[in-house]
Amino acid sequence: MANLLTRTANNVMDWVNARAPGMMPVYRKHMTEYYAPKNFNVWYYFGSLAMVVLVNQILTGIFLTMHFKPSAAEAFSSVEFIMRDVEWGWLIRYMHSTGASLFFIVVYLHMFRGLMYGSYQKPRELVWVIGMVLYLVLMAEAFMGYVLPWGQMSFWGAKVIISLFGAIPVIGNGLTEWIMGDYLPGDATLNRFFALHVIALPLVLLLLVVLHLGALHEVGSNNPDGVDIKKGPKGNRWSTTAPADGIPFHPYYTTGKDLFGVGFFLILAAFIIFFAPTFGGLFLEHDNFTEANRLVTPEHIKPTWYFTPYYAMLRVIPSWFAIKLWGVLVMFAAIAVLFLVPWLDKSPVKSYRYRGKLSWAMLLMLAVCFVWLGKIGGGPGTDPSEVIIGRVLTFLYFVFFITMPIWTKLDRTKPVPERVTMHD
Ligand code: HEM
Repeated sequence: MANLLTRTANNVMDWVNARAPGMMPVYRKHMTEYYAPKNFNVWYYFGSLAMVVLVNQILTGIFLTMHFKPSAAEAFSSVEFIMRDVEWGWLIRYMHSTGASLFFIVVYLHMFRGLMYGSYQKPRELVWVIGMVLYLVLMAEAFMGYVLPWGQMSFWGAKVIISLFGAIPVIGNGLTEWIMGDYLPGDATLNRFFALHVIALPLVLLLLVVLHLGALHEVGSNNPDGVDIKKGPKGNRWSTTAPADGIPFHPYYTTGKDLFGVGFFLILAAFIIFFAPTFGGLFLEHDNFTEANRLVTPEHIKPTWYFTPYYAMLRVIPSWFAIKLWGVLVMFAAIAVLFLVPWLDKSPVKSYRYRGKLSWAMLLMLAVCFVWLGKIGGGPGTDPSEVIIGRVLTFLYFVFFITMPIWTKLDRTKPVPERVTMHD
């Protein structure tokens, strides 16, 4: 039986190869003959996990779209219908809504890995920049998705965020109206967000993932040591010209590592989806289980947790000279500055393994600022001392980036080994 299957599979492959001979070399370049450094660690799980979550979002999204009604009059009740009456609808919905948060957890860890191992440094600047564009599109995708169920927080969140554009001088008000298609979020807003959320942005995300990996595979993966395996000795068990410290991505990393990571992740995700899908109001706010009402403002309007660090910056920056724009500018600058990291980092060493205490202290400071700001942004924002703390944290967040060219030069680095090291 197994023999018959192998023979049939081989025959099908030969048949395809005879007709599309260009396909096999692409497969080999990116899978069986893509030599990845042999010292990947747990931090290298999050790229493949991000792809798994993207697929989950698309698949569950297709089924949600079958029952969702993209109109202000019916959206909320259609989601209730999915939750109560559609077979397995509750599971599909929670896989999608919890999936959004899992996406950001995975992507934040993926970005942190990039920072820690200097994966953005030459020659991987383009991989980082495409990653940042992915992050931006992902934020837009998540924001629009959150508006669709037309709960209280969908409506008021959309109102607050879209109104930010109103702070832009001259064109602000016109732009806000143009985005909403109305003076308040309404049917037109919901319709266009639906179109963008279910088809336009997912297509862009898929295209960007292809470009992200294409750019990575041109130069090869970095690794926890930050040692370039392509510059090291050549020849391994599979090829005489491949880097000695590289192993074929498929089947070794696919089955030997990523599949294990995916299994572990899916078990964890299942626990959350089955036992704590709203995660105490963090993944889905309680207010969003009440239908949107333009006459009743929720007590605390706040975005989902993955936006709260930026939201905190927006809230704590004062309107100097009665201009509201400062907070908006700081918030956008906090994201924009991440694009520049490959050019701000002047360290001769990639990985933090071989950097000094100064670099570690700065990276720790950045992580603390981001998490603490997230906590402040998710809170009611009524405590005056929190405003001061928020300003200090925002300042320190920018200190990390603006002074990066200085501290990366001042830092005392350690000697980098010639070849990658293995930590069992
Ligand atoms: C939908 C979102 C994303 C997906 C699906 C994705 C996927 C991947 C995959 C599969 C890899 C190769 C495996 C690995 O190194 O873990 C990778 C590498 C990489 N990604 Fe992403 N990524 C995403 C977002 C981002 C973002 C937001 C950034 C940073 C701004 C980023 C920066 C990088 C870098 C620098 C590498 C190379 C890492 C290395 O070689 O050490 N990615 N990504």
